[in-house]
Amino acid sequence: MPTTSLDLKKEILRVKKERNAIILAHNYQVGPIQDIADYVGDSLGLARQAQETDADVIAFCGVHFMAETAKILNPKKTVVLPDRDAGCSLETSCPGPVLEKYLEDNKEKNYYVIAYINCSAHVKALCDVICTSGNAVKIVNQAPADRPILFVPDANLGQWVMEQTGRKMDLWQGSCYVHVEFTRESIQKIKDEYPDAAVVAHPECTQAVRLLADEVCSTEKMIAFCQDSPSKNIIVVTESGMLNRLRKEAPDKNLIPGPTDHCACADCKFMKMNTLEKLYDCINDLTPTVEMDDDLRLRAEKSLLLMLEQS
Ligand code: 13P
Ligand code: SF4
Repeated sequence: MPTTSLDLKKEILRVKKERNAIILAHNYQVGPIQDIADYVGDSLGLARQAQETDADVIAFCGVHFMAETAKILNPKKTVVLPDRDAGCSLETSCPGPVLEKYLEDNKEKNYYVIAYINCSAHVKALCDVICTSGNAVKIVNQAPADRPILFVPDANLGQWVMEQTGRKMDLWQGSCYVHVEFTRESIQKIKDEYPDAAVVAHPECTQAVRLLADEVCSTEKMIAFCQDSPSKNIIVVTESGMLNRLRKEAPDKNLIPGPTDHCACADCKFMKMNTLEKLYDCINDLTPTVEMDDDLRLRAEKSLLLMLEQS
């Protein structure tokens, strides 16, 4: 194992070439991982990249459900991730067997099930279509008008999509433990400090917080919002890793948290489990890998492909 971070970066690039690997990283990853990745983006962009790559190995720097999505779309490729334990509170809030029983008990409702991509392969296999924060409105707008919708697992994203589309949906009561920590009061305090600031928030935030935002969008769309905003000061209400790309791609903006006591960004402990060292190890040792039963994979792939087709 190389010792300095420069050596490590060089070694990652060397083993990456040797293995014909691609490094995909989510916008919430730490700066050094984003810097070395072939592609950095939101869940939708990452799913598209995973679908299109001709690399033999996908090293996925994000959380487990994202690497699993890459495997669903690429059964023949080796998908590795730096830390197998990088989970997601949304995924755990909707266990596959519990959803399966719920659908069985409510068969007469004939639900059209839309699952936010932050869920297990089991949940993906049970639903009709997947969505991400970047395409949720589009996907819900294409749902059959004559069937009730069950939206899982994020109640906050689901509520925001209902507001955007006017479509009523039954909402699974899951949430992102990071985004529900932001409160109306904490964001209002920052706004009081920077009265002219624009506010951009992720739709996983609560409605009380979203109401304070000028824009509610996926992490990818935050880049264009910050670049195009006439405001110099922008309060970014999401996970802290987002600031890495924003600082590079909207360098003339004052992205808040600045010198303030009230931080608008917070860490996702799962996203932050990945390090350059673990990235090197997973590409070099080709472990841990994502493995999946083929029947489950095929059922999960159906709803993912429909999402990609509809978005
Ligand atoms: P995005 O698809 O907007 O990047 O969101 C993913 C996520 O996990 C947000 O918490
Ligand atoms: Fe899951 Fe929230 Fe972390 Fe995103 S920020 S990966 S939704 S726990």
